Amino acid sequence: MEKKALDRRNFLGSIMKAGALLPLAGTPVLSVVASPLVSGSSYPASVMPDRMILNITKDPSTMAAITWRTNAAAPGFVEYAKADARPDFATKAVRVPATTTPLQQDYYHRLTLTGLQPDTLYTYRAGNEDGWSEWLQFRTAAATGKLSFIYLGDAQVGIRPFWSRVIRKAYAQLPDAQLIIHAGDLVNRANNDDEWGQWFEAGGYIHGSVPSLVTPGNHEYTHEDGQPHLSVHWKQQFTLPENGTGLDALEGSVFYADVQGVRFISLNTMMMEEATSEAQLQAQQQWLERTLSSNPYAWTVVTMHHPVFSTKKGRVNEKVQAWFKPLFDKYKVDIVLQGHDHAYGRGMQRIAPYGTAYVVSVSGSKMYEYEKMEWADIVTGHLQMYHLVTIDQHRLDFKSYLATGELFDGFILEKRAGKRNKFKENRPS
Ligand SMILES: [Fe+2]
Repeated sequence: MEKKALDRRNFLGSIMKAGALLPLAGTPVLSVVASPLVSGSSYPASVMPDRMILNITKDPSTMAAITWRTNAAAPGFVEYAKADARPDFATKAVRVPATTTPLQQDYYHRLTLTGLQPDTLYTYRAGNEDGWSEWLQFRTAAATGKLSFIYLGDAQVGIRPFWSRVIRKAYAQLPDAQLIIHAGDLVNRANNDDEWGQWFEAGGYIHGSVPSLVTPGNHEYTHEDGQPHLSVHWKQQFTLPENGTGLDALEGSVFYADVQGVRFISLNTMMMEEATSEAQLQAQQQWLERTLSSNPYAWTVVTMHHPVFSTKKGRVNEKVQAWFKPLFDKYKVDIVLQGHDHAYGRGMQRIAPYGTAYVVSVSGSKMYEYEKMEWADIVTGHLQMYHLVTIDQHRLDFKSYLATGELFDGFILEKRAGKRNKFKENRPS
């Protein structure tokens, strides 16, 4: 192509990307485009809802938190009903107004449904008369009974090309999971809309069908002024329990959810390792102690990003170890699900005092070197993985799968009266 023609094509491309089609000498103007394209993002919002996600609530047997995005400030709604195979369920749907807030050129809409019936299949859609999502289905948690969930380590890099197969395989294998845990570093650049677009594209309708429990990692933070700031996307696109410390810096990242006799706790390790004050460290630790000591349930699952024990020497998270581990020991936390090290490791039997299982994992394509560690029963790496966990009365069944669907590793925890959990290897032979 001649240079002149190439320059002209590049120029046209650049102004179209900027959202305007200007008349050029000798060029007929066919239309004026009011493009919704956001500079730098491959995922422009439109009037149609996208980035739909269910988030865990403090009580998912009766509540459901729903968030979505459009390019319009117009009021949004959720319509919901008990799911029914007859499509006229839609005529009986209840309409609930959402709260709308702007983020850059886009608008995020959110609401929390309350008063739902436990263990019931609901269907819902989001939007308004300018555009509605499809009807999605989700089941509320039961009051008690067998609970299954998915746990994923860092997605972070290679989200659309590589992470998509992991979350899809996990969901295909466990579509009735009651929640999905994302243990931080969901993206690489905290405020990069394109990466968030990839995360939502990769998960697709899974995000709108199974509640996500998301906890932030270091890559969900920016440091423009030298201080850590949580991604501007985080609290806009996730609607998370408001039962944390009360500190603004920890809102949306430190919370708990009680699901079928299991207390799930999200901790913010970034704001421990990079805490800006002693008061911040104390606030999270004191909240953790209150949340553990008041747990009426037999099981406790903690998720957080920076691990207590790492998969390579030199990657020590001193504040996490010093401020959290003594409480995990004191209150007999059953299992801690973590990320950050871009490898797989798990241990319990070599850790003193005996009693808490620790797991590190990665689901995206960024991999780090690893080495044999004293605390770990297994350390390995360069593998994209997902984990399916089932808790049924006195037994926790943890299984680790490769992105290909192959069972790779597993263990069982058995709860015993007056004693710490019994650990049993359950590796495939
Ligand atoms: Fe990280």
